[in-house]
Amino acid sequence: MSTFKFVVLPGDGIGPEVMKAALEVLEVACKKHGHSLDYKVCAVGGAGIDEFGKALPDSTVETCKASDAILFGSVGGPKWEHLPPAEQPERAALLPLRKIFKLFANIRPGLLYPQLTDASPLKSERIPDGIDIVCIRELTGGIYFGEKKTWTEPDGQLAACDTMMYRVSEIERIAEVAGNTAMARGKKVCSIDKANVLETSVLWRKTVTEYFKKHFPEVELKYMYVDNAAMQLARDPNQFDVFFTENMFGDILSDEMAVICGSLGMLCSASLGDIKNSLGLKFGLYEPAGGTAPDIAGKGIANPCAQILSAALMMRYSFGQDEIAAEIERAVRDAVCSGVRTGDIAFGIEPVSTDQMKQAVIDRL
Ligand code: IPM
Ligand code: MN
Repeated sequence: MSTFKFVVLPGDGIGPEVMKAALEVLEVACKKHGHSLDYKVCAVGGAGIDEFGKALPDSTVETCKASDAILFGSVGGPKWEHLPPAEQPERAALLPLRKIFKLFANIRPGLLYPQLTDASPLKSERIPDGIDIVCIRELTGGIYFGEKKTWTEPDGQLAACDTMMYRVSEIERIAEVAGNTAMARGKKVCSIDKANVLETSVLWRKTVTEYFKKHFPEVELKYMYVDNAAMQLARDPNQFDVFFTENMFGDILSDEMAVICGSLGMLCSASLGDIKNSLGLKFGLYEPAGGTAPDIAGKGIANPCAQILSAALMMRYSFGQDEIAAEIERAVRDAVCSGVRTGDIAFGIEPVSTDQMKQAVIDRL
């Protein structure tokens, strides 16, 4: 019998409501196996700014450091948009958290149940069996974290620059995550870059080629330029099994993947690094891909599935509870496929509330 110790950062917008649903589901799933939860709720994002004047309060960071994982909601919203860009919830909370905890690998499963192909903007005949792919995004390097500045040119106009930089070691460690993920699936991986233009991509491709040759000889490695990859993803997503790429390309491609998979309300993610938690497993941050959805916040109609599925990933990677994770994933699938659906995935079916969706998942546990 174990007690799982983690931090809950609900954040803003729909964050707190979907988080509440996810925690209830998690509680039931863990209790079934005789385990219990021990979590602290801390302020982050706009909530952090309102309460502590900072999107990532020091006390929140300290609490995160003393726990085994972070279950994250989402941050940001119109209320804080007047702030200077560097102080806004997204940039001032999420990016430092990734950096502080060295969460260099962002894993986003792109999963669309065959029963839900209607929810995808792709024609159903292109994805008769749904979609089942994985996007792995490098998360602590590249243009997000390189040197940036704004200056005035001699002729008086403003200019700005951001720098994209990668070291071999940063490329190798994400290649390893991609290789391991591919080994656990179809032994097929696609590395996405822009090696026809960018030096960082030339190094990326060379490093990845050598790394796979040495460490994953069984994995079929392909390459694709990012512009072509964007097109191929929309044309035939299942040609990818696992794809991996640098930070900015991954940001863009994972949103494209999300919409192709039907609804942001269904997509979860895990951000992992090399830091071990007190159980000797990976410390990680788990969050839905969807954002704060300010337009529906507080109405009790948001889809809690992505948050629930993120909690399942936390059980798998940070607590080693594969069975609990799989049971939660199956319960969500059963609920959605039997027609219990929130507005974002309803398509003609009478939509249910956040609470009803949560209850349907709990009933199937
Ligand atoms: C994401 C988000 C973040 C990113 C923003 C909120 C900083 O878009 O997790 O994909 O760009 O990484
Ligand atoms: Mn993004």
